Amino acid sequence: MSKEYNIAVIKGDGIGIEVVNESLKVLNHVQNKTNIKFNFQDFPWGSEYYFSHGEMMPENGEKELKDFNAIFLGAVGHPEIQDHITLNGLLLPIRRYYDQYICHRPSFLYEGVNSPLANKIPGSIDIIVVRENTEGEYANVGGFQYKNTSDEVAVQTAVFTRKGCQRIIEYAFQLALKRNKKVTSITKSNAQGYGMTLWDRVFEEVSMKYPIVETDSLLIDAACMDFIRQPESFDVVVASNLFGDILTDIGAMITGSLGLASSANINPDKTIPSMFEPTHGSAPDIAGKGLANPMAQILTSSLMLEHLGEKELSLEIEKSVKKVLSKNEIRTNDLGGNNSTSEVGDAIIRELNL
Ligand code: NAD
Ligand code: IPM
Ligand code: MN
Repeated sequence: MSKEYNIAVIKGDGIGIEVVNESLKVLNHVQNKTNIKFNFQDFPWGSEYYFSHGEMMPENGEKELKDFNAIFLGAVGHPEIQDHITLNGLLLPIRRYYDQYICHRPSFLYEGVNSPLANKIPGSIDIIVVRENTEGEYANVGGFQYKNTSDEVAVQTAVFTRKGCQRIIEYAFQLALKRNKKVTSITKSNAQGYGMTLWDRVFEEVSMKYPIVETDSLLIDAACMDFIRQPESFDVVVASNLFGDILTDIGAMITGSLGLASSANINPDKTIPSMFEPTHGSAPDIAGKGLANPMAQILTSSLMLEHLGEKELSLEIEKSVKKVLSKNEIRTNDLGGNNSTSEVGDAIIRELNL
């Protein structure tokens, strides 16, 4: 029996368009070779939409996505539009509207990829950062007073709720049970004495339920140091929204490139869509040149298939990316090669065993 998935596709801006196109090439190949069917629907939202309509997507556009099984997004961001407009006009409202409170971001050192850190062997770095994704420092709470005067005041409030801390920390422990049974919690509660001490207390409470899971608690500054100094010491890392954002760019670089860093914004309730977008942005510095590495987006499609319950296909896509990396023949510039975005996509398709 064939299975059908309705996928909303938002290619977005810059290299987002290029890497989504490669991923769709891979997914179309998958549907030609299997009994799975994807109904892709394109939503041409993003900065071009903004230039012609004055907004990043139609008003309440996020609601139009409610009947899809998943949202597949490239990246948004344009050098001529302020980032708070592009991101608060598209990406962040979708994460919030569908309460995609888990941001799941793996960093794995694949065979054939050089870490900038010395003497790291394949697999020695294997971290999943679980980033709280709907509140914390990204809560859209604050305002200006006396705007554009010399007395201007800006207030930006971080919001931490007990429920919000609990559910993301629970997810981290559940994930650790399936992995190396260690969770490291990251805060800055020496300076952020309210929200982050609530987080610490909840971490302590939740950890009591998982006596077989080893725990550690680090301040964000020390955690940044240890991502470089001893990344092997991490298994699952659970962090607030902003700290998770920062750590995952470090995690990407110590495992070779942002061009390999997949990511999923998940709400475990499968009756509403989760959103799958890589860790990287629209990379205006290389956009439109065919230089972008499509692997992060393709690995993100693998996370999407896993979420949809297509575990085998998900693994097959990851395996084919691994094969291309370990053969070390075809790669984009970020990994020291000179192949184009679409040559890498083609190579991944050739390795698929379907
Ligand atoms: P970026 O991730 O776009 O790029 C950082 C650096 O990494 C650049 O040098 C870029 O060329 C390189 N890079 C990123 N992805 C790559 C890939 N797949 N292959 C090869 N090289 C890659 O971050 P930035 O430059 O800080 O941000 C650019 C824009 O993207 C901004 O507008 C920012 O707000 C936005 N942004 C959007 C998202 C998103 O939509 N999810 C995420 C991050 C940044
Ligand atoms: C990411 C990005 C976004 C974030 C920005 C673009 C708002 O950096 O997905 O990592 O900080 O969540
Ligand atoms: Mn980021």
